Amino acid sequence: MRVIVVGLGVQGHKWVKFAGADFVATVDPVNKTADYARIEDVPLSAYDSALVCVPDEPKVELLKFLLTNGKNVLVEKPLWVQDEQEIYLLQELARKNNVYCYTAYNHRFEPHFMRMRDLIASGELGKLYHCRVFYGNGTARLVRDSVWRDQGDGVLPDLGSHLLDTLNFWFGVQNLDYKLELRACHENAAPDHVIFSSNNSQPQLQCEMMLLSWRNHFTCDLFAEHGSVHIRSLCKWGPATFTHRKRVLPSGKPVEQTVTLVQDDPTWQLEYAYFKQACLEKKTTDLAVDMWIHRVLHKLHGEG
Ligand SMILES: NC(=O)c1ccc[n+]([C@@H]2O[C@H](COP(=O)([O-])OP(=O)(O)OC[C@H]3O[C@@H](n4cnc5c(N)ncnc54)[C@H](O)[C@@H]3O)[C@@H](O)[C@H]2O)c1
Repeated sequence: MRVIVVGLGVQGHKWVKFAGADFVATVDPVNKTADYARIEDVPLSAYDSALVCVPDEPKVELLKFLLTNGKNVLVEKPLWVQDEQEIYLLQELARKNNVYCYTAYNHRFEPHFMRMRDLIASGELGKLYHCRVFYGNGTARLVRDSVWRDQGDGVLPDLGSHLLDTLNFWFGVQNLDYKLELRACHENAAPDHVIFSSNNSQPQLQCEMMLLSWRNHFTCDLFAEHGSVHIRSLCKWGPATFTHRKRVLPSGKPVEQTVTLVQDDPTWQLEYAYFKQACLEKKTTDLAVDMWIHRVLHKLHGEG
């Protein structure tokens, strides 16, 4: 597979590295080190797939161009659109042209997230009561200084899309019954701290995201009938721990198992391998999760 990287910023440089020998060229209208300034300038015969790492605004038009021209697409999260019909249109274009369109949510490939998915699927935890997740980084100033980041709903689509995707990955629920609990602009023009929740889902869900957590951190606590699960941190910020506590009845100190990982972030390499395989297998494009994330974010936007 021959891939181009569209958008040579932070993520673009990362994807050039992980595409390895498949990489052929870069496109960026601003970054002068890119091979081409416009996607239309790259000969269509030079590539099969594109890794799109641009700000949210230009994503849809680039994807329409690429899919119409029979190119597979990996687009960095979130698949941001003004009108949800555009997501259907992109899905139709991909299917019609027999190519694969995929939104990159690399945390699906985080080892403890996969461990969590498997434990939930095993049924061992019994009834799932409540899950709270926190995703925080300390990028408020970088976001404020960026030419495109400090606008709209800020941290909500940026980190909130990751959290929603993760909840879907674990629980498979796509409810729309989310409520905005907190929306703050401590340092930035756009929200830099948001909390939203869903009380009628099972488990109940509470998501918190912020750009003011000076040490990057991720936490998850899932409370269930037969025990609880606790994730602390991600491999990229490690050490990352996964603790499974097994309930003792009627009460008492639970039996506890902890797995601690100290390793480099494996998610990008795994996600690229997934994408490449899906392209080679001609997997059918399914943007249902993107549609659901778009609807939740849109609903929460209306409450802001
Ligand atoms: N998965 C993750 O953990 C993660 C982390 C950071 C960013 N992201 C996502 O990656 C995307 C890009 O973020 P970034 O941090 O790399 O941004 P960035 O600002 O560092 O880079 C974006 C680049 O796109 C270029 N660009 C703008 N319009 C273009 C166009 N029409 N054609 C080609 N290039 C164009 C800009 O000149 C810039 O160089 C965003 O969607 C963001 O949400 C994902």
